[in-house]
Amino acid sequence: MLFQQLLPLFTSPLLAFASSSLTGASGASCYASTLPSVPPSTDDRPVPWGSPSVHFSALNGTLTTCCDSLDEIRIALDDIDEKLLDLLNQRAAYVREATRFKSTRSSVNVPSRNDEVVQEAEEQAEHIGMPVTIARATFEAILNSSVPFEQCIFDTSHP
Ligand SMILES: *[C@@H]1O[C@H](CO)[C@@H](O)[C@H](O)[C@H]1NC(C)=O
Ligand SMILES: *[C@@H]1O[C@H](CO)[C@@H](O)[C@H](O)[C@H]1NC(C)=O
Repeated sequence: MLFQQLLPLFTSPLLAFASSSLTGASGASCYASTLPSVPPSTDDRPVPWGSPSVHFSALNGTLTTCCDSLDEIRIALDDIDEKLLDLLNQRAAYVREATRFKSTRSSVNVPSRNDEVVQEAEEQAEHIGMPVTIARATFEAILNSSVPFEQCIFDTSHP
């Protein structure tokens, strides 16, 4: 079963999570590296439609389904965003530290390494069943902003 296979991949001590959209045909193509070319829907649907698509699995094996309201979803998103910012802060600290090991400004940016990071993110995204377009755009944005940041550190810092 997909869930059991994915569980060891998650590092969070409390929660592992996966989307059920992968197993059903509905929406599955939106997880690919290229989004499908389909006409925009003109539906006006009574909400909520469909059935909850987020499944949280406590490591004790309990499955809980979410969500019952937009409020509940936004609280979860805010919580995740806070964690993302914390991780990005840590990442930026290491990017800054890397500058100490670069002797010239031209060696700050290593395009081949950047390509590798984005490609690995795309592969891992596919592996864990997350939308590849989100992984690609996110990691491109992280690198596109980290390189100028590291160059700025190099230009403005003096041993
Ligand atoms: C499993 O963990 C969840 C929270 O992570 C808790 O709500 C639930 O009661 C636990 N179930 C058991 C059987 O311990
Ligand atoms: C990152 O920069 C590359 C090269 O300039 C560009 O092709 C790409 O669209 C940028 N991506 C994002 C998310 O900013």
